[in-house]
Amino acid sequence: MRLLFCVFSGTGNTRRVGELLAAELRALGHETEFFKVKRGAPMPATEGFDALIAGYPVHAFNAPTPFLGFLKRLPAAEGMPVYLLRSSGEPLRLNDASGITPKRILKKRGYRVRGEFSYVMPYNIIFRHTDKMAARMWQTAEARAKRDAALIDAGGGATRRVGPFRRAAAFVLRIEHTAMPLVGRHFRVREGCVGCGKCAEVCPQGNIAMKEGRPVFGKSCVGCMACAFGCPKDAVSVALFNSWRVNGAYRFDGEAAADEEICRYCRRSYLRYFHEI
Ligand SMILES: Cc1cc2nc3c(=O)[nH]c(=O)nc-3n(C[C@H](O)[C@H](O)[C@H](O)COP(=O)(O)O)c2cc1C
Ligand code: SF4
Ligand code: SF4
Repeated sequence: MRLLFCVFSGTGNTRRVGELLAAELRALGHETEFFKVKRGAPMPATEGFDALIAGYPVHAFNAPTPFLGFLKRLPAAEGMPVYLLRSSGEPLRLNDASGITPKRILKKRGYRVRGEFSYVMPYNIIFRHTDKMAARMWQTAEARAKRDAALIDAGGGATRRVGPFRRAAAFVLRIEHTAMPLVGRHFRVREGCVGCGKCAEVCPQGNIAMKEGRPVFGKSCVGCMACAFGCPKDAVSVALFNSWRVNGAYRFDGEAAADEEICRYCRRSYLRYFHEI
């Protein structure tokens, strides 16, 4: 099969997981191509592909706005299979609600969603996981990618059912997506900024312009946190969310956390996720 991966990723977690799954599919003899979902990028051609893998990070229990916009612009298709691939900071079932709108859009466009795959990767907002937890998540992702690639190879997969309580909660929390462009206008850079321009480079919305060596934030922020996470000087202040700011890349190749080292917060759900394979 020829598979087209269309991935929106702020801080690289979803992209990493997508690349992992793509490598497993290639090992099974399939061809893969990657398309980065980003504001202003021309739409990819879908002809000649047998299936689409659409990837996104969970933002407030929903899919990010640019990802939904991308799905709406996809050419109509007659029954082309799609797999949703998401990454989230926690193994919460509420995160499954983020698939509701993508599935609705895809169905309207004539696509057939065959499966949904969820991967837990370290948080890029709220709190910083330890590198040991990041390594454990990565090892789990490697095992799950093998399993999910085998499922795609066999033409299998399943979508997630979401009950009314989770639907309602995710619907309410969509407010975060409406508020983000307003909050993002108040992002600022602090003293330590050296004007390197990395924040502007990584912003998937093209929302940061460098003016006289200083980043200036525009009106189209979606809160992906790429700018704050990737700044080498931790100089981006993210307004209302500043106390939740997480800065600096995680290490995935070190020693992995053992079961008893997993943080108490949500421990049971992380254990369930790690042992589910
Ligand atoms: C604005 C925002 C909201 C988030 N909301 C959730 C959430 O509702 N549930 C969750 O488990 N993780 C949440 N996260 C964490 C990300 O989904 C997670 O770190 C993801 O792996 C990031 O992927 P990326 O690097 O591809 O952007 C949120 C992150 C951001 C920036
Ligand atoms: S990445 Fe950080 S240091 Fe570089 S321009 Fe942006 S805010 Fe300044
Ligand atoms: S300004 Fe920062 S948080 Fe907002 S979309 Fe750009 S990179 Fe993401």
